[in-house]
Amino acid sequence: MSKPSKSFIRGLPKAELHIHIEGSLEPEQLFEFAKRNGVDLPFPDVEACRAAYSFTDLQSFLDIYYQGAAVLQTEIDFYELMEAYLRRAHDDGVRRAEIFFDPQTHTDRGITFDVFMGGFSRAIRDVEIELGISADLIMCFLRHLSGSDAVATFEQARDHLHQFIGVGLDSSEVDQPPEQFVEAFELAHRAGLHLVAHAGEEGPPDYIIGALDALGVQRIDHGVRSEEMPELVRRLAADTVPLTVCPLSNLELGVVSDLNEHNLKRLMDQGILVTINSDDPAYFGGYIADNYIAIVDALELDRNDVIRLARNSFNAAFVTTERRDIWLAEIDDFVDQHEQGDQL
Ligand code: HPA
Ligand code: ZN
Repeated sequence: MSKPSKSFIRGLPKAELHIHIEGSLEPEQLFEFAKRNGVDLPFPDVEACRAAYSFTDLQSFLDIYYQGAAVLQTEIDFYELMEAYLRRAHDDGVRRAEIFFDPQTHTDRGITFDVFMGGFSRAIRDVEIELGISADLIMCFLRHLSGSDAVATFEQARDHLHQFIGVGLDSSEVDQPPEQFVEAFELAHRAGLHLVAHAGEEGPPDYIIGALDALGVQRIDHGVRSEEMPELVRRLAADTVPLTVCPLSNLELGVVSDLNEHNLKRLMDQGILVTINSDDPAYFGGYIADNYIAIVDALELDRNDVIRLARNSFNAAFVTTERRDIWLAEIDDFVDQHEQGDQL
C-alpha cells in the first residue's frame, strides 16, 4: 500500500471533533484583537509570541492559552476567531466540525454568554452558508474549577441550550477526577445534550473509566493512556467508544517524547475507533491536515489507514445517519477519483 500524498490527505473529506476554538487564536489575530481592545501583551511582536510557544506539559500550555484568551472581548472578536478557524478547516477537507469553547474563561472576565455565543453562532451560520461546512459547539467545563462552578455555568447557559449540542470537560487533568462533575453532566444529560470529556491525556486510565461510568460520556478526548490498561482497551473497542486523538498536541505537551512512539496505530490495531484532531492548532504547530501528515510520516501509515481514520471521524460525529452516509459516500468518491488519477 502506497504512502498517501499530502494533497490526498488534505483533500480527503473528514470531521474534526477535538478543537478548542480559543486554541485557534493565531498570534497575528492575538495582536490585532489586543490592539483593537487596548490590551497590553507580554510580547513585543508576533515572532516573540510564537517563540514563547514552547511547552513542557499541559499546565505550561494552559497558562499561556488562558492569557491569550484575555484579548477576546467583543462579539466581533469571537465572530472573527470562529470564522478564521472554519475557513482553515474547510481548506483541510473538513466537512463537519464539533468545536469546544470554554465559557468560564470568558465569564470570569465579565464577558457574558450573549457576547461569545452571539459571535460563534453568527460565524458558524455565515460560513456554513458560504462554504457548506457543518459545525456545532460543545461547551466545556474547566476542571481546575469546582463541580459547583460547573453547575453554575450550566445554569448560566440555560438560555443558550439551542446554540450547542453537548458538554465536555477540559483544562488541568492531574488530581482533578471526573467524579467531581457528576451533577453538571447529569443536568446536561437531562437537557438532551451529548457528553464527552478529556481523560487519559496526562491523567491516569482510571479517569477514562470515571468519565465513562460516572459522567456517562459518549466519546473520550485524548484517551491515549488507556493503553496502560488492557481491559480498558478491550472495553473501548467492544463498546465502540471513540477516542479523539491529537498527535501534535501530545508531542508539544510531552505526552509522547517522539511522534514515532505514538500509540495511535496500536490503539487502532486493537479495534478502537480512533480519530485525528488538532486540539489547539495555533499553539501546537498545525491544523488537522498537518496532524494527519505528521502522524502518517512518523508511523508510516498507509492510504488505507488514512481512509479508515477519516471514516472513523464521521462515524464518531454527533450527526444523523443520513448526513453521515452522505459524507462517507463522499470519501468513497474521493478515493475512487484518486485511484483513477493515479492510474493515468
Ligand atoms: N487538554 C486539556 N485542556 C485543554 C486542552 C487539552 O489538550 N486544550 C485546551 N484546553
Ligand atoms: Zn483538548
